[in-house]
Amino acid sequence: MTTPKRDTASNDSLIAAARRARLNAYAPYSKFRVGAAVLSADGQVFTGANVENASYGLSHCAERVAIHQAVAAGHRNLRTVAVVADGEEATMPCGACRQVMAEFGIRKVIVATPKGRTRTRTLKQLLAEPFLPERLLGFPKGGRRS
Ligand code: THU
Repeated sequence: MTTPKRDTASNDSLIAAARRARLNAYAPYSKFRVGAAVLSADGQVFTGANVENASYGLSHCAERVAIHQAVAAGHRNLRTVAVVADGEEATMPCGACRQVMAEFGIRKVIVATPKGRTRTRTLKQLLAEPFLPERLLGFPKGGRRS
């Protein structure tokens, strides 16, 4: 069963990248540090951390920072996101981040604690019926995002 082993190995390296990214979180207000790493369809990894602001509503979640890094580097088709957040229990992404994941084709979400407690979900489980760009742009599901 080579495929699951390879999958596990890439999951582990994605979690490790998210764990490292968490160290750069700027979270002086919530003190809740989050790191994220996203894998693009062509195998590249982009990372992000949450970035807060004294005007609280301007804060950015780690997942969206990582995803938008990938998009700003030209990647439109993304696959998996790993998130490492403070706490004893693995934290599931907020609703806004789930919607952003749907925009760029994320299928798998791995969440972990700093101590290594890990849970995996499909995006479908987390966001059963997303609002998708196809609705506005007319291209077929899974089609090119330019
Ligand atoms: N946060 C994330 O980075 N990702 C989530 O999915 C949920 C919340 C951040 C935003 C804010 O900086 C802090 O956690 C507390 O809400």
